[in-house]
Formats: sequence, C-alpha cells, structure tokens
Amino acid sequence: MDLLEIATQSAGERLIKRLAIMRRISQRNDWIERTIFSPAAEEAAYKLKNWMAAAGMETFYDPLTNVYGQISFSKNGTEAPRIHLGSHYDTVVNAGAFDGILGVLIGIAVAEVISESKHPFNHNLSVLAFSDEEGVRFNTTFLGSAYLSGQFEEEWLHKEDEYGKTLGEWLVDRAESVDTILNAHQSPYIRPQDLFLEAHIEQGPVLENSNIALGVFTNIAAQIRSEIILDGCAGHAGTIPASLRKDPLPVASEMILAVNQLCKSDESIRATVGHLEVIPNASNVIPGRVKFSIDMRYPNLKGLRQIHDKLSKQIKSIAKLTNLKFEYNLVHEARDAKLDEKLTDILSESCDIIQGSSIRMFSGAGHDSMKVAQICPTSMLAVRCKDGLSHHPDEFASNADCILAFKAMLQSVLTIDINC
Ligand code: GLV
Ligand code: MN
Ligand code: MN
Repeated sequence: MDLLEIATQSAGERLIKRLAIMRRISQRNDWIERTIFSPAAEEAAYKLKNWMAAAGMETFYDPLTNVYGQISFSKNGTEAPRIHLGSHYDTVVNAGAFDGILGVLIGIAVAEVISESKHPFNHNLSVLAFSDEEGVRFNTTFLGSAYLSGQFEEEWLHKEDEYGKTLGEWLVDRAESVDTILNAHQSPYIRPQDLFLEAHIEQGPVLENSNIALGVFTNIAAQIRSEIILDGCAGHAGTIPASLRKDPLPVASEMILAVNQLCKSDESIRATVGHLEVIPNASNVIPGRVKFSIDMRYPNLKGLRQIHDKLSKQIKSIAKLTNLKFEYNLVHEARDAKLDEKLTDILSESCDIIQGSSIRMFSGAGHDSMKVAQICPTSMLAVRCKDGLSHHPDEFASNADCILAFKAMLQSVLTIDINC
C-alpha cells in the first residue's frame, strides 16, 4: 500500500468512530438534538475543531459558532482559491445520526489523508462545519453558511427563539459587539474564487431503489416557510356550547387539510405542517390559541411563490369566515439552486471510479450548498440511506457506504486539484 492508501484506510476508520461519538452528543437524553447555541452544539463544535486541528489545519470558531479549518498548500498564500468541504453539525428535533455531520466528518477525513500522506497538493483545503442549517431555534435556515459566505441579513438579528431571546442577543454573548459580527462580512471566508463540495444522505429512497450507494445532485428545490397564528378565546370545555365558542383548533384543522390537499395535488409540490402548538393544550380547556408552520418546496422559486400565494389566499379566506384573530407570517424563503456542472461531472466520474456507475438526481431537501452556490461553484454528493429515512431517529447509512462516499470525495478533490 502506498502512503495515500494507508492514510485513506486510517482516516476511514476514524470517520466511522467519529460518527459514533457525534451521535452521543445531544441536548436530550431520549433523542439526538443539537440546536445552535445549545451546550450540546458547543460540545460538538469543540470536538470538530480539535479533529480539524489534529488534521494539521489552522482552525477558527466564529460568533455564529461555525467551526472551520484550513491548510494552505498554495504557494500564493491564503488569497489563493480554497477547496471547501463540509456541511452542518446542527440537527432537527429527534434527529438521525448522519444528516449533516456525515458531510463534515468526510471533509475532515479528506483533509487528514492529504495532510498525512504528504500527497502533492496545490490548493488551499478548507473544512466547514456550519452551525445552523435546520433552522430549529429561529425558524430561519442556513444561518451558518450565510454568515461564512457574506450573505447574513441584518434583520435576522431580531429573530426570536421560543424563549424570546433574539439572535442578536445570542450573538453579543459571543462577540465584542454586533458591529464585530456584521463587519466580518467585509471579507467573507467563502469567496467567489473558491469552490464547495458537500456530501449528504438526504435524498429519500432514490439511491436505495436504484441499488447504488452514491449519486450526485444537480439542482436543489426552492423553499418557503410560514407561520400561522389563530387567536380565539380559551374556556371551560363543559360549560360553553359550540355556538358561543371561539375555538381556533377546528379552523386550524381546516387549514391544515388544505395544505395536505395541495401536497397531494401534484408530485412536485411538497407542503407540510410539521409544527403545531395548541395553547393551553389541556383536555378540559377549549384552546385559546393555535400556532402552526407550513413548509413548502418546489423545483423553482417563481413557481413556488405562485403556489404559495394561492394557498395563503385559501387560508385567509377560511380565516375570514370566522370570528378569530388571524396572522399569516412569511418567515423564510430560499431560492432554488443549480449546482455547478463541472463539479457535478467530477463527482459523478469519481462515483464511476469508486462504484462502477453513478446517477444524477434532484434534491427536495434544503442544503447549505444552496446558499454557498450563490457565491462560488458548488456541488453535492448523495449517499444512500436505509428505507430512504432522514429527519428520523432510524436514519442509517452503512459503514461501507460512508467509506465509499469518503473515497469518492477524496477522489474528486484530487481531480479538482489537478484540473481546476
Ligand atoms: C433540511 O434538511 C431541510 O430540507 O429542511
Ligand atoms: Mn436535515
Ligand atoms: Mn442536512
């Protein structure tokens, strides 16, 4: 075995061990959950930073709690293009152990191989671990990648978490001032001359049904998230007849059925109510308030806006027929992304080398790559997961498939170093 093969073998073994370590880092005992700024997320960040440092990287930790590391191989210093590898280390609520973190650990493994094997390398190599892709705390996704790529929006500072603490307040706990945070945008770490590759499992049953471990994404769907609040009047479940009630729950149910109807009407539309709050949520109290989310996806933002407008009109007309107070808030919008053709071809050729074939697919899931693709050439490697499950505790990718993904990413980075 040559030095590259020896380093690949040991980095692969560490990758599998680290996946097991990361699955134990959670803010809950009963499931995996790492929300930005939680102690579990901070612990995960600390571990990732140490592993990057052990791979010979200069490491950084920013107020948004992004962790990133760089090895400067280029003779032209840090101004030379960076090959960025990585993904997010936060999770959804009751998450699986692979979404996001697999891409971060593959990035670290690739850096280890190149650094340990002393393989000739000319680019600057960077690993990124983004702190908030899922948007659990502030209901706004891609906070980490937006910040590192100079796309952070000042108005996000006013976004509140469920305890009423704003993102701005969280950030000043971690930086000298809000100005320090915003000034970082004058020279973002991810720049137009760079490129970014991300490995991810969130592709549903596509790869499993095709009986293949790896594929590549070509495009990522647009997203819109909104929040609906219905206020009625809480009261005694035994004393108030239906004609005198101001119960928001049956009205919310009608709206939720409309969302589901829309989702069933067209295979390319995804519309989901995943968060529902019934207040005060007691069996003998008529609800006083209901709050719920709508998450919508469609291949392009223009089409998604039209579909969203139609649905919001339908929901507003349901609300008009009632005596309830009603709020409809648009909380998040992300443009669809077309991934870079040249990088997608390179990833696809690596899949051919590693597993003998490859397939291309569309991503219905959102990714940091959507944000980064607006700044520099970006593409994504897709990894098979059992039963197509992600955002689920049973999410599973076999050790063998994780290693294949790591090898395909390594192969791609070596190709890029020579050809780009
Ligand atoms: C993230 O995984 C999303 O697609 O919401
Ligand atoms: Mn996810
Ligand atoms: Mn993800």
